[in-house]
Amino acid sequence: MADTDIDPDKLASYTFQVFTKLEGAVTAGMIHLGDRLGLYTALAEAERPMTTDELATLAGLHERWVREWAYNQAAARIIDVDADECFSLSAEAAAVLATPSHPSYGMGLFHRLPQTMRTLDDMPDSFRTGLGHDYDSYGCEGAIGIERGFEPWNNAFLLPVVLPALDGVTTALEAGVNVADVGCGAGGAVLLMAGAFPNSTFTGYDISEYALERAATKLEASGVRNATFVDPRSTSLPSDNSVRLITTLDCIHDMTHPQEMMESLRAAITPDGTWLLVDIKALDTFADNARKNPMASLMYGISVLACMSSAMSEPDGAGLGTLGLSESRAREMAAVAGFTRFRRLDIDNPVNAFYEVRP
Ligand SMILES: C[S@@+](CC[C@H](N)C(=O)[O-])C[C@H]1O[C@@H](n2cnc3c(N)ncnc32)[C@H](O)[C@@H]1O
Repeated sequence: MADTDIDPDKLASYTFQVFTKLEGAVTAGMIHLGDRLGLYTALAEAERPMTTDELATLAGLHERWVREWAYNQAAARIIDVDADECFSLSAEAAAVLATPSHPSYGMGLFHRLPQTMRTLDDMPDSFRTGLGHDYDSYGCEGAIGIERGFEPWNNAFLLPVVLPALDGVTTALEAGVNVADVGCGAGGAVLLMAGAFPNSTFTGYDISEYALERAATKLEASGVRNATFVDPRSTSLPSDNSVRLITTLDCIHDMTHPQEMMESLRAAITPDGTWLLVDIKALDTFADNARKNPMASLMYGISVLACMSSAMSEPDGAGLGTLGLSESRAREMAAVAGFTRFRRLDIDNPVNAFYEVRP
């Protein structure tokens, strides 16, 4: 292509578009640091906008570094700055950056940003061989990031909104039934449900050693007695139709063998049982995802770095990936596995769709 084909205005705006991606990546790194160093917590706790001297003192850090960080954050409009260069958080920023109990709290994915980006070095090999990396390749911090990412929403909505939306499930849980949470991560959902329904017995299954370690530590600290956490490769799901409720929260698209997993769920579930399938609100085609999902590029990127990589971490992995389990594909796969009823629940979530699947 000749240089004369280049329109200088288009070149300038295209270059700007490319470099805004780098700006986003670098600012994401600064958000990771703000979270990790307690800078957002310090800003949220302050009663008035602070100078960087005050912020550095409160956080126990070196002022010159805090000042440069604050300039990045204010320039990116993540934090507020006034004419005297005093910095603060809006109420909305405090919810997203500094309030772990708020459902919009968003520091989980930023927590694991260094581990996620470190996999870039492994990617050229994966692109050549086809083989990806499971969740343990991000180390313990990877599991903590997932935990911090999912628990705020689950804490706010799983018990009061999601379980009551399932036909007959809370009554069964109150009476006492077996429950399995497959792909349980650090066990937050299991501990919530087990604490609320002491007559039922809960088992969390995950193949991540780091997630299972976190779950075991939290189980001990919680005092909950009706929950256990196991690796399904050593303690497989029961195959005697004895589990009344199965939950899979944001994990089927990460699995190397999702169809076989659905078949195992079908063998585990009671004839009147319920499978709560929570997965990303994906559409059927790339074109639809790109047009209708404002986070599509983020999700396809996370897929390469995490979800699809996990789903390709065995040589014959299915590789669904972050946007790979649309409603229609989930319906088809569930039907192939022997489930006959499939209902989308009317639950509002920016990222996930919720389905009640039954034998
Ligand atoms: C995105 S995380 C979701 C964790 C958890 N459900 C939550 O909401 O915090 C996906 C999890 O699925 C797990 N996973 C992947 N393949 C699995 C399999 N075959 N069996 C059980 N867990 C699996 C991963 O180890 C990871 O912990």
